[in-house]
Amino acid sequence: MGGHLSPMEKAKFVAAKRAVDYVEDGMRLGLGTGSTAAWMVRILGEMVREEGLNITGVPTSSRTADLAREVGVPITTLDEVKWLDLTIDGADEFDPDLNLIKGGGGALLQEKIVATASDMMVVVSDASKQVETLGAFPLPVEVIPFGWQTTKALIEESLTGLDVMGRSASLRLNHDAPFVTDEGNHILDLHLRRIGNPRQLSMVLNQVPGVVENGLFIDIADAIVIGHGDGLVEVRDINNGTVERERIGVVEDDNLFTDIAD
Ligand code: 5RP
Repeated sequence: MGGHLSPMEKAKFVAAKRAVDYVEDGMRLGLGTGSTAAWMVRILGEMVREEGLNITGVPTSSRTADLAREVGVPITTLDEVKWLDLTIDGADEFDPDLNLIKGGGGALLQEKIVATASDMMVVVSDASKQVETLGAFPLPVEVIPFGWQTTKALIEESLTGLDVMGRSASLRLNHDAPFVTDEGNHILDLHLRRIGNPRQLSMVLNQVPGVVENGLFIDIADAIVIGHGDGLVEVRDINNGTVERERIGVVEDDNLFTDIAD
């Protein structure tokens, strides 16, 4: 990336940079998945290496686990620590109540387990993911491979009568083969266009046999750090209703910007 971030990458970077202010020495952290969360992992790696920050991370995907190892963030399993102080993760969409769509990267299951097992979840995002009503981004639903076509038909049927605008689902592909999650499952992307009642939809989807979990995160996120391409960040805390804005400086000759594989 050689010292020249696009405005979008800069927005993601400054969001991650501000979000690590929530991290304290000794914390057990959920490490999210995706390009924004990857910045957070790299920044934490630098803090571990250069400032001696003492943290333990629980990655939400094999990709994040690989990156954490690469940059020197110590990792463990959720079964080892059982509960976390904080999770920082990205999102595909967020609404004014901080309800989220996640799973664009296919890691929604581990992401939801880890975020739910955390005292606090902080979302890192660029401003483009902000919506009034969720649903323009196709909603990922993780299903077991056995009988997935029946599961798909049942999901489409279960949408009848719900407050959504589209009702079709498609199997996510990786090249020509079905995409396989870290848990060995498939992803159905639901093209709903508008989700009028995310809480109801989430409950309906999780009743369908074959569905493991859906990508709606309702009442899980506590705060969001929204990055902009000019270095501005906005921090919204949904619990205490505060909104703070500040500008984050980006020094692009930093070690963080070299050897970026993501
Ligand atoms: C992965 C996710 C990601 O958090 C989401 O897709 C956002 O990714 P990015 O930061 O690359 O836009 O849910 O399953």
